[in-house]
Amino acid sequence: MENEFFFNYDTMPDPMDRVDGKMKVTGAAKYASEHPVEDVHYGVLVGSTIARGVIKNIDTKAAERAPGVIGVLTYLNSPKVPGYDAGGNPVKGRTTGQPLRVFYDEVIYFNGQPIALVVADTFERAVHAASLVRTQYDAEKHSTDINANLDKAVYPRGRSNDYTRGNADAYKTAPVKIEAEYIVPVEVHLPMELHSIIAKWDAEDKVTVYDKTQGVKSTQRSIMQAFKLPEQNVQVYAPFVGGGFGSALRTWPHEIAALLGAKKTGKPVKLVLGRDQMFTMVGYRPYTIQKFGIGATADGKIIGMSHEAISQTSTYEEFTEGTVNMTRFLYDVPNVFTRYKIIPLDVSTPTWMRGPGEATGSFALESAIDELAYALNMDPLELRLKNYAETDPEKNRPFSSKFLKDAYQLGADKIGWYKRNRQPRSMQENGWLAGYGMSTGTFSASRGNASASARLSADGKLVIQSAVADSGPGTATVMTQIASETVGWPANKITFELGDSSLPPGPTQGGSTTTSTEGSAVHAVSVALQKKLGELAIKASPGFSNAKTEDLVFDNGKVILSTNKTTTVSFTDILKHNSLNQVEVTSDSKSLNDQKYSMYSFSVHFVKVLVNPLTGVVKVNRAVSVADAGRIVNEKTAASQIIGGVTGGIGMALMEEGILDNRYGRWINNNFADYHVPVSADVPDIDSLFVNKPDPIINPMGAKGMGEIALIGFAAAVTNAVYHATGKRIRSLPVTLDKLI
Ligand code: MOS
Repeated sequence: MENEFFFNYDTMPDPMDRVDGKMKVTGAAKYASEHPVEDVHYGVLVGSTIARGVIKNIDTKAAERAPGVIGVLTYLNSPKVPGYDAGGNPVKGRTTGQPLRVFYDEVIYFNGQPIALVVADTFERAVHAASLVRTQYDAEKHSTDINANLDKAVYPRGRSNDYTRGNADAYKTAPVKIEAEYIVPVEVHLPMELHSIIAKWDAEDKVTVYDKTQGVKSTQRSIMQAFKLPEQNVQVYAPFVGGGFGSALRTWPHEIAALLGAKKTGKPVKLVLGRDQMFTMVGYRPYTIQKFGIGATADGKIIGMSHEAISQTSTYEEFTEGTVNMTRFLYDVPNVFTRYKIIPLDVSTPTWMRGPGEATGSFALESAIDELAYALNMDPLELRLKNYAETDPEKNRPFSSKFLKDAYQLGADKIGWYKRNRQPRSMQENGWLAGYGMSTGTFSASRGNASASARLSADGKLVIQSAVADSGPGTATVMTQIASETVGWPANKITFELGDSSLPPGPTQGGSTTTSTEGSAVHAVSVALQKKLGELAIKASPGFSNAKTEDLVFDNGKVILSTNKTTTVSFTDILKHNSLNQVEVTSDSKSLNDQKYSMYSFSVHFVKVLVNPLTGVVKVNRAVSVADAGRIVNEKTAASQIIGGVTGGIGMALMEEGILDNRYGRWINNNFADYHVPVSADVPDIDSLFVNKPDPIINPMGAKGMGEIALIGFAAAVTNAVYHATGKRIRSLPVTLDKLI
């Protein structure tokens, strides 16, 4: 391997259990709203009941008089947010390109927009008082239906983002061609933990928050910016996060609202969104319409592809994602055209949701590939292999690592792909139609900046610290493992501390980069700790006084002199010899901007479905997912990522669909009774397999990202399997039974 610090996994113990697993299952882990804060009061948001217009009058008198209420905030009396950009005339010059400014003015941008915050001494009293706020509006005609507004599609920021390689229309004249339109509806993240925050002003210009966030440093920065505060005056805690999937990647209006409520009332304010508010206040995956064209020679060489996506955004912010991007490099195709447009609607702003962009885009691409394979009378896996990209055809450079062929092989063998009868509607099991489908997923892999500190105490405890958050993948566990292996110190004597903005800066947990980015910092600080211990050994430990640094070997908690292997000293004895209670080091790890390689993780999903021919019920009967995510640091936490991603993929394929009543621009199914997500009975045993070959470029661990690729592509594998089972091609998610009967 060309990386001299390459992680040594040979001595790795069996996959470590989660270091915080016991805390989580016993309830000892404290989530944002569970932190005890003295004299805490409860904030409840009131949402607008129109989708567009202005507030004409808002009457809060009854709410203010209600028992227990200590304050009601609206745009008329809210403390100012100095970081809000001043807007023009609110009605005529609707501003774009900035987050919703809560309680800023009378303008309504979407139904459910927070227009008042009631603060009371109990949650129940706050809920009651919130029901007493009376609002009159001047409503304007709103637009919330993407399909009724296709003529309003625009390029992001008014600039063409079309991509053309070769001839954009080449697919149209190919001997075999498919043209189809694919729909991904709105999906909502809905992590189990509701979004929540406790905001407490310690002084006029100093604040502490306990927040649900995937990034304690990014939340700190947002609050610093909004209230024009110095870094040391904003303290953010998020020691545990009950899922996010992207909804906690940015700071939302309810967080600013809680800060304003606490400022106005002088009391700490706890604000927990209701499940219904999770649909309007913390983003969602946007409704996207995709047109796909693909053409090939009769023997399956793809000549051209065309991929156009139109997606929704809000009127006040441009949200964009890389929906069409994977089409440019996943297959070796000479002629490719992609186009991406957005339609501003009177809705709240969408945001990144697990596999952002690619989860949507792969549904079109991987469905179209399957359709083409059947049109060619070719095995869909053979078609993919025939057009396999050994190097990146978009950027004309090698991949840092790509073991997708291995992944195809592992998955195909595991599910028995080649044993199926390839004919659609040819297989049955106990009166159900059986079908097999597959798909490919990919997501960028990268490494960002991070810092970490390491403190070894004389009693042998090693504490590693970094301001990163863990929304569930097991970051604390994996970082403990990386530190243990790199330092050569037992994992049970190591604590990884995170979720605190005052620690050395760590990354936001997003884009499948935490292990790469944070792990590199933990690796760096582990190496720095060894170096420091070596210097201290030379300084004061018997037998080391004339040693050179390059003669020191670190092994299993000891420093060994390579020139005389009987001369050894334990790490803790080094501290004693130097009369030190502890030794502490801090290290930075820099982002990797290597322009020589394209860096991506890859996944393959194989699915077997059973479809009831009478009722149209679809059951995912088997799922085999294989990840090419570089070296797998911990097979247990990695398998958890696959299980979670596949479960999300089953939801995307068969159940999830946020539905608006366009007459009002209001959600119809904003609860768990009507918005369906998979439950245990919907999820089969999932085989998670890993190629487990290190990426030699990305970081010392050789680990690429896992979180996104676990979901990306899965929905297409299901619809492809449904086609194989039934002969019916479903191009509009989710595959509800009405589409099959
Ligand atoms: Mo992920 S959508 O970057 O939380």
